[in-house]
Amino acid sequence: MNKVLVTGGCGYIGSHTIIDLIDHGFEVVSVDNNINSYTYAMDRVESIVKRSITHYRMDLCDLEATRQIFKDHPDIKAVIHFAALKSVGESVSQPLRYFDNNLNSLLNVLSCMRDFNVPHFIFSSSCSVYGNTTALPVTETTPFEEAESPYARTKQIGEQIIRDFARANAAVSSILLRYFNPAGAHESALIGEDPVHEAWNLVPAITETAIGHREELLVFGDDYPTRDGSCIRDYIHIMDLANAHTKALQYLLADKQEQNCEVYNLGIGNGVTVLEAVHAFEKVTGQKLNYRIAPRRDGDVVAVYADTGLVGERLNWQARYNIEDIMRTAWAWEKQRKSTVNG
Ligand code: NAD
Ligand code: WQD
Repeated sequence: MNKVLVTGGCGYIGSHTIIDLIDHGFEVVSVDNNINSYTYAMDRVESIVKRSITHYRMDLCDLEATRQIFKDHPDIKAVIHFAALKSVGESVSQPLRYFDNNLNSLLNVLSCMRDFNVPHFIFSSSCSVYGNTTALPVTETTPFEEAESPYARTKQIGEQIIRDFARANAAVSSILLRYFNPAGAHESALIGEDPVHEAWNLVPAITETAIGHREELLVFGDDYPTRDGSCIRDYIHIMDLANAHTKALQYLLADKQEQNCEVYNLGIGNGVTVLEAVHAFEKVTGQKLNYRIAPRRDGDVVAVYADTGLVGERLNWQARYNIEDIMRTAWAWEKQRKSTVNG
C-alpha cells in the first residue's frame, strides 16, 4: 500500500480527501494543529472508512516536530499539502501571520521531503493566484494579475517556491492544483465545511441562513454585467475535488508527468451566478431562502470559471456532481451539524 502524508487532515478538503484516498487503497498519515478545525473530524473520517488513521496533532511551522513524522514513516511516497490559513479577509488584517504560517509550513515540508527522499508532492493552490483576471474561462496559462490579498499572495509565492524546488530537485515530481470554489459535503453528512470562525463563503452562508444562524443572506450585488446581475463562480463539489487528488497521485505514481512540476485548474468549468445558487438551494430543499440584494462586496470579481480541458485529459478526472448536489449535501451536513455539534 502506498503511504501518503496529508497535511491539514482535519480540515475541510483534507478530511474529504482522506476518505477518497483510503477508498482507493492508499494508506494515510495525517497531521493538523487544528488552528481552523476540530479533532472530531478525524474521528468521523475513521468511522466512515472503518479503520484507524495515524494522526499527529502538531504545527508544521515546527521543523523538528515535522521531521519526526518523516523519521517515523520512512516509507512515505507522497505529501498532499493542504495545511494553510485560508481566510482572505483575515489575511488583509494579519498579513505577517499568513506569510509566516503558509510559507514556513511549506518550506518545512519541502525540506523534509528533500532530506527523507519523498518523491511526490501535491500542493493546494487557488484560483485566487489569477487575481482580478478578465480572461475567461481561466486556463493554466492565463497570466497572473496582482494578488488581491496577502492570502492569494501566499499561494502565488508558494507556487514559485515549489517551481524553484522542482528545478533543483529533479527526483521530486509535483502537481499544483488550483481550486476554484469548493463546496458541499460528504454524502454521510458526518463531515463538511466546519470552520472555527463564521464562514464567509456563499454556500455555508446560504445553509446557515436556512438553519436560522443568520437572519438573511446578503447577495452582494445584482448590477454586474452577467445574465442575472449577480457574480459568476465555478462551484466544485468537495468529493469531486477530493477525487482529483487521488487521480493526481495515481498519475504521479504511474510516472506519467511530462514535467516535474505541473499545474491544473480544478473547477467544473460551469459558471453559476449567486442567484442561481440560491435558487438551486430552494429547489433541492423545497424551502424559500430569506435573501436580500446588498451592495457589491469589495474585491469581488464579476466572473471566474475554469477551463477544465487539461485536468480532464491528463489526470483522467471528471466531475460527477453539480450545483444541486452541492446544495443537497451541504444542507444535509448543516442540519446534522446543528443537531450533533453545535446543538
Ligand atoms: P481548512 O482551514 O478547513 O483546512 C486547513 C487545515 O490546515 C486546518 O485544519 C488547519 O487547522 C490546518 N493548518 C493550518 N496551518 C497549519 C499548520 N501550520 N500546521 C498544521 N496544520 C495547519 O481549509 P480547506 O478549505 O480545507 O483548505 C485546504 C487548502 O486548500 C488550503 O491550503 C487552502 O488555502 C486551499 N484552498 C481552499 C479553498 C476553499 O475555498 N476551501 C479554495 C482554494 C484553495
Ligand atoms: C462567491 C460569490 C460573493 C457570500 C473565495 C476566495 C478564493 C477561494 C475560494 C481560497 C461571490 C457571493 C458570498 C455571501 C454573497 N478560496 N456571496 N453573499 O470570493 O469567489 O472565493 O473562496 O483559495 O480565494 O476568495 O467565494 O464563496 O466568498 O463568494 O453574495 O454571503 O458569492 O460576492 O460573488 P469567492 P465566496
